[in-house]
Amino acid sequence: MRVLGISGSLRRDSHNRALLRAAAAELAAAGAQLDVWDRLAELPHYDEELDVEPAPPAVADLRRAIADADAVLISTPEYNASLPGGLKNALDWASRPWPGNALRDKPVAVVGASEGLFGAVWAQAEARKVLATIGARVVDGELPVGQAHEAFDAGGALRDPALREALAERVAALLDGACAPLQESA
Ligand code: FNR
Repeated sequence: MRVLGISGSLRRDSHNRALLRAAAAELAAAGAQLDVWDRLAELPHYDEELDVEPAPPAVADLRRAIADADAVLISTPEYNASLPGGLKNALDWASRPWPGNALRDKPVAVVGASEGLFGAVWAQAEARKVLATIGARVVDGELPVGQAHEAFDAGGALRDPALREALAERVAALLDGACAPLQESA
């Protein structure tokens, strides 16, 4: 089982990148592999005039990486009570061509970290709304990692056992979604 990881933060020392690394350990324990797609900064701003074949190279790579994965795990910070523009831009690119985009019916889970108390819950909710609109099979619920600058130990694991368990549950729900058969629409 191959899961594609996308961090909504471009920052090298991003807590959301750290959360993806912690998730990779949980996925490995469940027999799955996390491949992080790290080219968010290379995507042009979405422009319908650029959205032609052949697609810009980073766009084609994003769509191919999503299509090749069994599931997608997004870890996002919160910027001004929403998801970062760079992540929204990537989701806009991934939503086309419509309706047969690479995210359609793809299991996707969203987690998030921020240095504030609330762990990017609004950003995660916004990301789930966008993903549902795009047609992904969005895993319910969030994983809010607040005070993220203190949340990880030296080995990269979440310090709080309750959060570690919640991350394992998110990962399990994502893998269950990836294994579940698609519902036939009536
Ligand atoms: C933030 N941050 C922030 N945090 C929050 O809880 N709610 C918010 O609305 C915002 N808004 C916001 C806007 C901008 C432009 C920046 C740069 C930051 C704080 C932010 O979520 C925090 O620094 C995270 O740790 C950033 O994620 P990474 O880079 O550590 O993954």
